[in-house]
Amino acid sequence: MCGIVGYVGRAKAAPILLDGLRRLEYRGYDSAGLAVVNGRHELQTRKCAGRIAALAKLMVKKPVSGSFGVSHTRWATHGKVTNENAHPHFDASGKLALVHNGVIENYQTLREELISGGDTNFRSETDTEVLAHLIGKLYDESCATTVDTPQKKAHMLEAVRAALQRVIGTYGIALIHSDVPEFMIGARRGSPLVLGVGKGENFLASDVSAIVAYTRDAVYLNDFDVVAVDREKFEISSLAGETGDHQVSKVEFTAEDIKKGDYAHYMLKEIFEQPGTVRDAMRGRLSPEECTARLGGLNMTPPQLRDVGRIILTGCGTALHAGRVGEYLIEALANIPTEVEYASEFRHRNTPLTRETLVFTISQSGETADTLGALRESRRKGFRTLGICNNVASTIARESDGGVYMHAGPEIGVAATKSFTSQVVILTLIGLLFGRMRTLSTAEGSRIIESLEALPEQIETVLKLSDQIKEIAKKYADVTGMLFFGRQFNFPIALEGALKMKEITYLFAEGHPSAELKHGIIALIRPDLPSVFIAPDDGVFSKNLNNIEQVKARKGPVIALTSGNGASQLKTLANEIVTLPEAPDCVMPVLSVIPLQLLAYHLAVELRRDVDKPRNLAKSVTVE
Ligand code: G6P
Repeated sequence: MCGIVGYVGRAKAAPILLDGLRRLEYRGYDSAGLAVVNGRHELQTRKCAGRIAALAKLMVKKPVSGSFGVSHTRWATHGKVTNENAHPHFDASGKLALVHNGVIENYQTLREELISGGDTNFRSETDTEVLAHLIGKLYDESCATTVDTPQKKAHMLEAVRAALQRVIGTYGIALIHSDVPEFMIGARRGSPLVLGVGKGENFLASDVSAIVAYTRDAVYLNDFDVVAVDREKFEISSLAGETGDHQVSKVEFTAEDIKKGDYAHYMLKEIFEQPGTVRDAMRGRLSPEECTARLGGLNMTPPQLRDVGRIILTGCGTALHAGRVGEYLIEALANIPTEVEYASEFRHRNTPLTRETLVFTISQSGETADTLGALRESRRKGFRTLGICNNVASTIARESDGGVYMHAGPEIGVAATKSFTSQVVILTLIGLLFGRMRTLSTAEGSRIIESLEALPEQIETVLKLSDQIKEIAKKYADVTGMLFFGRQFNFPIALEGALKMKEITYLFAEGHPSAELKHGIIALIRPDLPSVFIAPDDGVFSKNLNNIEQVKARKGPVIALTSGNGASQLKTLANEIVTLPEAPDCVMPVLSVIPLQLLAYHLAVELRRDVDKPRNLAKSVTVE
C-alpha cells in the first residue's frame, strides 16, 4: 500500500525512480510523483493523479535532472485523489520533499500547532504534509546559520528524529532537502522500508522489488530505525540516536522473476505458476519414511508440539480464507480445536486464550497492518505466535516466534492466487505433523503425503481447463453477479471464489455453505445470477446435489465444479460442468480453487477490467 522509492548516486535519478515506481505500482495506483534535486540545488517536482504512465508522460513533457530524489505511488488514505494530494509533500520553505506510507494519526493536532505558530503554507489535505512541515520547521530552526554540509546533514537527521518522536501513527518515509546535496533520510514505524546497498549509489524502497534490478544487497529496516543515506555510505540509528549493527541480506529473487513474460497479466502468470509454487511449498518438508511433515522453522520441540491444545489461525482477505481451509484440515487430521479469526477483530477483542493455545498469522506480504497487529497482540499476551508468510524479510516473519515460509516467489497481481494454494498446502503439512503426533496412523500419513505429491501434476491438469472456463466466462459476461456454494473443505473455496470475483470483475458475489442457501440466499436466485457449486464427488456430494436442485427449481443457472462420477449425475441439472481430477477431500481445495481463479480472471478480461490493478484495492494493506 503506497510505494516509496528513493535514490542517491551518480546516475540520473528520474529513470531509476520511475522504473522503481512501475514495479511498485501494485501497492497503490491512484496518483504518483517524484522530486529530484539538480546541480543548482533546485528541487524539481512532478506529480499527478492517475497511474505511473501519466507521471511518465508528464516527465517527457517536463523532464527533470539530478542524481538524488524521492518518489511515491499513492493509495489514498487522507485526502481525495488530486494532483495536490499526490506525494511528495513539502515543508513551508518548499525545499524539503517527503514521501510517506502510513497514517499520522495526530496530524490534526500537529497541523493546528504549526498554524498557530504562523505556518499557513499548507497546500494539501494530507497527514503527510504536516510531517514535512514539522521536520522542515525543526530543521530551519536548528540550521539557520549553518553553511557546512556535514553539519546540515546532522541537523536534518536531528530534525527528523525530533519530529518523529512527536508522531502518533505509522510511517515509512523518505525525504530530501535541496540545500543538503546527495543526501536522503529514511525512517520506519509500522510501514516497511528497505535500504538497497549499491556501489557508489544507495536506494530506499518500501519493497525490494523496486530496486532488485540495481542491487540485491538489502538492509530491512526495523521499526524506529532512521537511516541517513549518502552515495557511498549509510548510517542506521534509532529514534533516540543510538547506532547499532545491521545485517546486509541477499534478496532471494532477481529482476527476471518479477517480469510478466508472455502472459497478458501477472495474475494469469501466477495462476499458471501454481504447479511449481505448490511443489516449492512442500520441498524438503515431507518425510515419507516417518509419514509426517518436517517443519523445523516452527522452532518447537516435540514435547512443545504435543502440548498444543488449541490453534488460532488469523489473517485478512485471501489469507483468512486459507486459514478457513486450515481449520477443517487441522481438526480433521490432528483433532486439535482450531478457530479462525479476522486479524482486525482478533487484535482488538479479548479472545480467551488458554495456556496451550498456538497462534498462526497467515500473510503473503507479511506486512498487512491488521495481521501484524494481531501478531503483536498475541505475543504481548505471551502466546507463541508463528507466521505463514511468503515475503521472507517481512515484518511479520521477523517478529514471529517461528513459522513456515511459502517460497512462492513474488506475487504481483493484486488478487492473490498462488499464495493461497501455498498457504493451504502449508496448513496441510501442519495438520499432518500435529496429526502424526496424535491420532493419525502411518498409513493415513502416507496417504496424505502421496496426495500432496500428486498435486503439482493434478494442477497441470486443472490448468488445461482454462479454455473451457474462458468460454463459460464469455457466456456469462452479462450476469449481474454470482453466488458461490460449497460444503466442508470447499466452503472456504466458495468464499475465496466470491472474493476473486468481487476483486477483479467488480460484480456482486457472495460465498456461502451450500446448505445456507435455504436460509435467505434462495430469495436472490434468478436467471441473471448464476450459482457456482463446488461439488466434488465426495461424502457430501448428494447434499450438494439437493441444493443444486433447489437452485434449478427457481430458474437459477448452475455452474458446477465436480469430480469422479459427479459429472454424470449433474448432466441434466447443471448448465456448465467443470471436471476436476479425483483427489482426497483434504487436498481438493488446492485443485478446486483454481477454476474459480480462472473464472474470475477470464470474466474480468471479458469485462475489460484492469486485472492486475483493480480499482480501490492495494496488494499490501499497511494501514488499519
Ligand atoms: C489485501 C489484498 C488481498 C490480500 C489481503 C491480505 O486486501 O487485496 O488480496 O489477500 O490484503 O494480504 P496478505 O499480504 O496479508 O496475505
